[in-house]
Amino acid sequence: MRRIAVCPGSFDPITLGHLDIITRASKLFDKVIVLISRNAGKGQPSFTATERMLMIQAVTGDLDNVVIDILDGLLADYVRNVGAIAIVKGLRAVSDFEYEFQMALANKKLYADAETVFLTTASENMYLSSSVVKQIAYFGGDISHFVPPEILDDIQNRLVKRKS
Ligand code: PNS
Repeated sequence: MRRIAVCPGSFDPITLGHLDIITRASKLFDKVIVLISRNAGKGQPSFTATERMLMIQAVTGDLDNVVIDILDGLLADYVRNVGAIAIVKGLRAVSDFEYEFQMALANKKLYADAETVFLTTASENMYLSSSVVKQIAYFGGDISHFVPPEILDDIQNRLVKRKS
């Protein structure tokens, strides 16, 4: 039996924190599906789903058991359809916990046969989020410590505030 895990998120854009979680998950499961999903609680994403997919492809090419997919629907349905046994999420700080706990319980209710597995983030990524990256890039700051080098220019060029 192949043990499949789904690693869902907005990935708008993918950060070094996400990549660390994906890489570690790829060592724990036979196959990891990085699932670009819609967070109804967040506004319009800065990057299209296809752009996010291309960025994730560019930085996960060396991980043989990682594939990428896009979902506009319920995570629990997707997990059931692909026969995954786990949903993998990164946990940064206590502030993440309540929200993540709520999602894990809701997903368990919707599909009981998968477990949500939390991987604690590496300490150097504790404060890191896509929104922090976007804010810094918008004001022309250096984001090279936060995103993989392969996609640094793409993100910076897209997000930097244009001079008026
Ligand atoms: O990176 P994010 O924005 O914290 O990820 C949240 C995400 C996209 C994983 C979550 O919003 C999600 O699972 N969206 C898919 C729709 C769904 O199933 N929502 C109910 C989860 S309880």
